[in-house]
Amino acid sequence: MTTTSTPRKITIFDTTLRDGEQSPGCSMNLSEKLEVAQALMDLGVDVIEAGFPITSIGDFEAVREIAKTVRGATICGLARCREADIDRAWEALKEGDDVRIHVFLATSAIHREFKLRMDKEAIIRHAVAGVQRAKGYCDNIEFSPEDAARTEIDFLCQVVEEAISAGATTVNIPDTVGYATPAHFAHVIKSLVNRVPNIDQAVISVHCHNDLGLAVANSLAAVENGAGQIECTINGLGERAGNCSLEEVVMALRTRGDFYHADTRVNSPRLVPTSRLVSSITGMLVQRNKAIVGRNAFAHEAGIHQDGMLKERTTYEIMRPEDVGFSQTDLVLGKHSGRAALADRARALGYHLANEQLDEVYTDFKKLADKKKEIFDGDIAALIEQRNTQIVDQWQFVSYDVHAVSGQPPTATITLSREGEPHTVTKTCGDGPLDALFNAVEEITGKSVVVRDFRVQSASRGKDAQGESIVEVEHNGRVHRGRGVSTDTVEAGARAFLNAINRIEAGQTAVGKREAV
Ligand code: KIV
Ligand code: ZN
Repeated sequence: MTTTSTPRKITIFDTTLRDGEQSPGCSMNLSEKLEVAQALMDLGVDVIEAGFPITSIGDFEAVREIAKTVRGATICGLARCREADIDRAWEALKEGDDVRIHVFLATSAIHREFKLRMDKEAIIRHAVAGVQRAKGYCDNIEFSPEDAARTEIDFLCQVVEEAISAGATTVNIPDTVGYATPAHFAHVIKSLVNRVPNIDQAVISVHCHNDLGLAVANSLAAVENGAGQIECTINGLGERAGNCSLEEVVMALRTRGDFYHADTRVNSPRLVPTSRLVSSITGMLVQRNKAIVGRNAFAHEAGIHQDGMLKERTTYEIMRPEDVGFSQTDLVLGKHSGRAALADRARALGYHLANEQLDEVYTDFKKLADKKKEIFDGDIAALIEQRNTQIVDQWQFVSYDVHAVSGQPPTATITLSREGEPHTVTKTCGDGPLDALFNAVEEITGKSVVVRDFRVQSASRGKDAQGESIVEVEHNGRVHRGRGVSTDTVEAGARAFLNAINRIEAGQTAVGKREAV
């Protein structure tokens, strides 16, 4: 069904780089964050929340670099309602063209009593002071009453009114613990619209967590009742069960424009490439049956469905795969493809490669094309990611040799190099060849870790597909992720383990990178 009136424009506020990055194991380094920010720009999001500057040097640098270099979206930094937080957020944002400070303070009775030990008056005082301090730096201010969905509605209305009077231009209503249901959340938003006298001076935003699997439904219920901004993340990444998934909420609004009379400026064919980019950078797999971007999202298996599809596509399909970015054919390049063709494919996959990066990836591509006849999108993404992770590597993988027989301890020899100098160790131990290789790497690098997770998957299809390995290791109470790619899966595992060790050396952490605040 189509409508004649112009749809209301909903602002898409992406928090993949802030709330999304808080997902266990999803931490990104600076170059990875810049890459995601560029992809979000290409996708057409309106606001990018780039980090929480007070919490770590890494977050501060990421917000600063993204504010300085990314144009075409508002860049936002998060701060508690504390002077030091707000000053630090501004320090990170000040070189940007179009920036926003996002201040938050919890308002629910549980948070007031147990976390903050503040009464209602103190909460209002701090919220107003926080908004006013931020307003001293820039006009575009967002205020979030954290745990709003569990806040008494009268008090929530009062806090929101005071925050707007103090200068907030967006009031964001978080369901911090994913407690709301659609009817409940609709009531919260409707109450704010009807009861806050100055509500027309600010945009109502919503920020829903997915603990009950209702984040998208709650966000849509909020839009139906007047919300003008949705906070969301690519692939629904985020604390615990994650946030509202950007691709799902955007496509729900677009597909059901007849009902919501609302839309976003998201360039929907960039959804699948952006989802894949974020998945490959964070190592967080997208489930096959995930709506919109999962591999099976458009696969029709039942005979009766296939029959209907052949007669008329719309019998069983409410969106076209190409509208969300599934390409018609996955077979891309081969041995004779040139540098320009590779650059073109990399761009289509969401990567922005500088000339020297392209040269390096092209060298790897040529080597791979000698081993493998058909090179698919997944292979190209894996090669680029492999290069990106190597940027921080102090130890380089050189070669390995393993001898393994069932029922006997394996023997593994590995050679690594550091500053051009080779180091070789042989170990006969462990449960299998990879365990022995990991032990050898630990001995050379002097880093002892506990492996928490180890995976190998194929980067594309075929028996000769590259193996992409993700390893999560724990070191000094923190979890670090490593990634490795090779047509040889044992080598991919060894490279992933070494990459995790290199990340430890580089001082990056995958979980708990931000200081607890
Ligand atoms: O979930 C939450 O309440 C948040 C706020 C900082 C907006 O992430
Ligand atoms: Zn959140």
